[in-house]
Amino acid sequence: MGKVTQITHPLILHKLALIRDKNTGSKDFRELVEEVAMLMAYEVTRDVQMEEVEIETPICVTKCKMLAGKKMAIVPILRAGLGMVDGMLRLIPAAKVGHIGLYRDEETLQPVEYFCKLPQDIEEREVIVTDPMLATGGSAADAITLLKKRGAKNIRLMCLISAPEGIKLVADTHPDIDIYVGSIDEKLNEKGYIVPGLGDAGDRLFGTK
Ligand code: PRP
Ligand code: URA
Repeated sequence: MGKVTQITHPLILHKLALIRDKNTGSKDFRELVEEVAMLMAYEVTRDVQMEEVEIETPICVTKCKMLAGKKMAIVPILRAGLGMVDGMLRLIPAAKVGHIGLYRDEETLQPVEYFCKLPQDIEEREVIVTDPMLATGGSAADAITLLKKRGAKNIRLMCLISAPEGIKLVADTHPDIDIYVGSIDEKLNEKGYIVPGLGDAGDRLFGTK
């Protein structure tokens, strides 16, 4: 069974409170999503492989740890996952970025796929799927299925705000995946929105409503 980690650092909780506020406009919302993603990336990458290297300081030669050769890929679920990419790239600038386009049908709440472009060597990379919201879990579960079909083997999921229903669906469908969230909220409402949540992440990021 993959592990579920709730990252409860004070800086993340503070910024999530600001993100949830309905009076936070798109500019601040975007900046905050980027900042929280950067802070979470620190924890999500805690166990990536390291190797010992020899470094010559101005004083002497010494052994240091650096990231091992294994390469990383960040894969946002469009649209809202895009808001997390720049923050993560600030910490992991060598990562490649793939894109998976999914939208949730408003009636059925089922994800509909419309785009997929991944790094060619995705099977060799440690993949971090990003999406601010894990609601029913349908979008994240489908994105992970798609990644596995394309050969990805080492996948983790990173979301800012989640509902228990979404965590359960992803954990049941993909028991090999580690899930990282900033918050596990109370529930979904009758329209499939997370309660208390933050509303529609894509619309708030891009100002489309
Ligand atoms: C939102 C969100 C997730 C999905 C979560 O995207 O960014 O991708 O809903 O819901 P689920 O867990 O029930 O699948 P949306 O479909 O609204 O598309 P958008 O990002 O383009 O606005
Ligand atoms: N998608 C969102 O953007 N917000 C929710 O609360 C649920 C799905």
